Amino acid sequence: MNIWPLTADSPSAVGGVPLTEIAERFGTPAYVIDEEHVRHRCRDYRKALHPHRVAYAGKAFLCRAMVRWVHEEGLDLDVCSGGELALARSVGFPPERILLHGNGKTPEDLAAAFDYGVGRIVVDSVGEVARVAALAGGRRHPQKVLVRVTPAVDPQVHRAMATGVEDQKFGLSLASGAAADAVRRVLGQPSLTLAGLHCHIGSQIREPDGYATAARRLVAFMAELGGLPELDLGGGHAVAYRPDEHGLDVQTFADRVLGAVAEECAAWGIPEPELTVEPGRAIVAAAGVTLYRVLAVKQGVRTFVVVDGGMSDNPRPALYGSRYTVARVGRRTGAAELPMTVVGRHCEAGDVIAADVPLPADVRAGDLLAVPCTGAYHHAMASNYNQVARPPVIAVRGGRAWPLVRRETSEDLIRRDVG
Ligand code: LLP
Repeated sequence: MNIWPLTADSPSAVGGVPLTEIAERFGTPAYVIDEEHVRHRCRDYRKALHPHRVAYAGKAFLCRAMVRWVHEEGLDLDVCSGGELALARSVGFPPERILLHGNGKTPEDLAAAFDYGVGRIVVDSVGEVARVAALAGGRRHPQKVLVRVTPAVDPQVHRAMATGVEDQKFGLSLASGAAADAVRRVLGQPSLTLAGLHCHIGSQIREPDGYATAARRLVAFMAELGGLPELDLGGGHAVAYRPDEHGLDVQTFADRVLGAVAEECAAWGIPEPELTVEPGRAIVAAAGVTLYRVLAVKQGVRTFVVVDGGMSDNPRPALYGSRYTVARVGRRTGAAELPMTVVGRHCEAGDVIAADVPLPADVRAGDLLAVPCTGAYHHAMASNYNQVARPPVIAVRGGRAWPLVRRETSEDLIRRDVG
């Protein structure tokens, strides 16, 4: 499976721009993002799911350009905080096409949602119904809400990514009756409209079966309620991080899930709801490449290649045991490849970018390394551990490279420290 951006010419250039040139112009580490790739994935999703809705999950990667791209491609937007909403609002993303999620929405998140007039709020706890209803009270139109349901589907992924099983913090259980309780409360609030149900069963899900099962369970619940206009099946579609992996094919997903919904609705005799899916990773992961400069090579029991970034720009290996591939770019020597472990510069032994990956035996300080499939949950999850400033995001398209998010500086970090 190709794990490089669609416009990549081997790993040496993306969007028609040599990666060496980007590193020289903008420095390292740097996140590179291929605009064409993002747009292409948006179109794949729109096409496969037509006439249903596709809402890009902003938590995967968000900046103003990204908001504009998904808007131009006709997607809706899923936000999970007032901060993501503020970013979307700053470029005028239409509020009626925004959904707000969150298992713990702060008063500020909800105030921002009402202030901008977001289209849908996804209720995630029984107590939230009254809070949302109170805010919706003074308005002319009822607020549309979806109730997030836990369908008890185990997608067989990393524990931190299974969000549709019973014993975790998201959603309202079908089995315990909490979902039915929340639905009753929503229906009892004149300032709210129950638009439909929502679920999100997890992340990096490679097969469509779990989605089909969840969809069937939610449709059955909808049938008890006499049918509802909308059914949101969340995101979580897997991508390949390494060449031997495979992602969830969107057309296979669409065929399988649309089929299951149609069948189940027919069996219950209710009209088919409008579906929404919320892909984040599947839109943007493979659009991104991270560039690092090698700082040191240490030979020992294994060979460590130390780079100028690490767990502050990619915490995923430490958090989920995620594995990546690494390529050297810019210097071709024909040297044989040997297994090496690429590590970061942080003061922590778990600061590993990729363990036992093949790299040319003559790799040395100053070489440029590229790590593909770093567009989702990298910039979004970056930290300032060790007071390390976060890398810039550089867009590429048609032979041009330009910054979307500038590199953070030590001054940026110190400015927040007001003590
Ligand atoms: N919708 C909801 C309600 C979600 O909670 C999420 C992800 C998505 C959509 C998008 O999921 P995607 O299609 O991107 O998998 N930090 C982890 C992933 C956590 C995802 C949380 N929710 C990672 O780096 O893999």
